[in-house]
Amino acid sequence: MSSPFSMNLFTVFILLLLGSSYAQLSTDFYSKSCPNVFSAVRAAVQSAIAREKRIGASLLRLHFHDCFVNGCDGSILLDDIGSFIGEKNALPNRNSARGFDVVDNIKSAVERVCPGVVSCADALTIAARDSVVILGGPTWNVKLGRRDARTASQSAANTNIPPPTSNLPNLISSFQAQGLSARDMVALSGAHTIGLARCTSFRNRIYNETNIAATFARTRQGNCPRTPGTGDNNLAPLDLQTPTTFDNNYYKNLIVQSGLLHSDQQLFNGGSTDFQVRSYSNNPSTFNADFVAAMIKMGDIRPLTGSNGEIRRNCRRTN
Ligand code: HEM
Ligand SMILES: *[C@@H]1O[C@H](CO)[C@@H](O)[C@H](O)[C@H]1NC(C)=O
Repeated sequence: MSSPFSMNLFTVFILLLLGSSYAQLSTDFYSKSCPNVFSAVRAAVQSAIAREKRIGASLLRLHFHDCFVNGCDGSILLDDIGSFIGEKNALPNRNSARGFDVVDNIKSAVERVCPGVVSCADALTIAARDSVVILGGPTWNVKLGRRDARTASQSAANTNIPPPTSNLPNLISSFQAQGLSARDMVALSGAHTIGLARCTSFRNRIYNETNIAATFARTRQGNCPRTPGTGDNNLAPLDLQTPTTFDNNYYKNLIVQSGLLHSDQQLFNGGSTDFQVRSYSNNPSTFNADFVAAMIKMGDIRPLTGSNGEIRRNCRRTN
């Protein structure tokens, strides 16, 4: 006999499931509450890139560094304020992560069209997609519905975001720890088709490594002095051919031993991922398809949904 009591228990169970573990992101999350979110973000990203092309790369990287630390929850955007310690001064971010002022502009534009509705985490996800598209890469529908964290973790940022000194097994395991495969890792690394790196991130490679093209090493040495502490912040393009265009040249560089970072060249160094680098270097549409699939997977990392977290008014601080 199905008593009202067992019925209620069942209903409660289903509601709990829906409310927590089964809360899902969706592409139409704001279709009623903020249909103009896409045009607002897009215009702000477009004008930022018109001022400085590199900013597209910086926004894409912020989304990556957000997602790898307790999920895509806007945690990287929180400032260190008083006793609150955020992620901006974690090693992978300090003197390196940038674009926070542009995220503020994007959030302001979104607040103007629908106040209090769109999370910073979602705005950053859309901005990362728009950056790729504006710089000539593929497009896709972003999944939305993330909410913003009230916490951040400097230590998790230090632990979870792989350093440029990583070897191939390190890279594979740090992506595996986020539920991403080795194949996803190689595809997402194609993001290094845009943007710049500091001398301190590649100095050891251009002076000490042997799996590097000699002319390329010499070129990079020209603006990155050997002595640590000198010219540490001098910049060089991650993709020596087309640093402001999203294409597959990153992989072509790897094949001729012209990856800038030690970690880049690890993807083509006689190991298990060589075949994938070759495939992407010959076939931009395969790269684009895999990059899109992996970006969607990365955007799905442990989001706060439902009534967890909050919709931050200011991306730099909790409400
Ligand atoms: C595979 C492991 C990865 C490592 C070890 C790595 C490491 C780095 C390093 C060291 C820099 C230069 C930072 C500096 O010198 O200031 C950099 C820049 C960059 N990274 Fe990665 N990265 C990885 C994966 C990714 C992924 C998955 C994305 C995005 C999907 C990404 C996007 C970028 C972009 C766009 C830049 C240039 C940023 C700018 O110019 O402001 N990276 N990365
Ligand atoms: C090259 O390697 C040596 C030995 O590990 C190290 O002491 C030196 O700092 C490295 N040089 C650069 C420019 O990183």
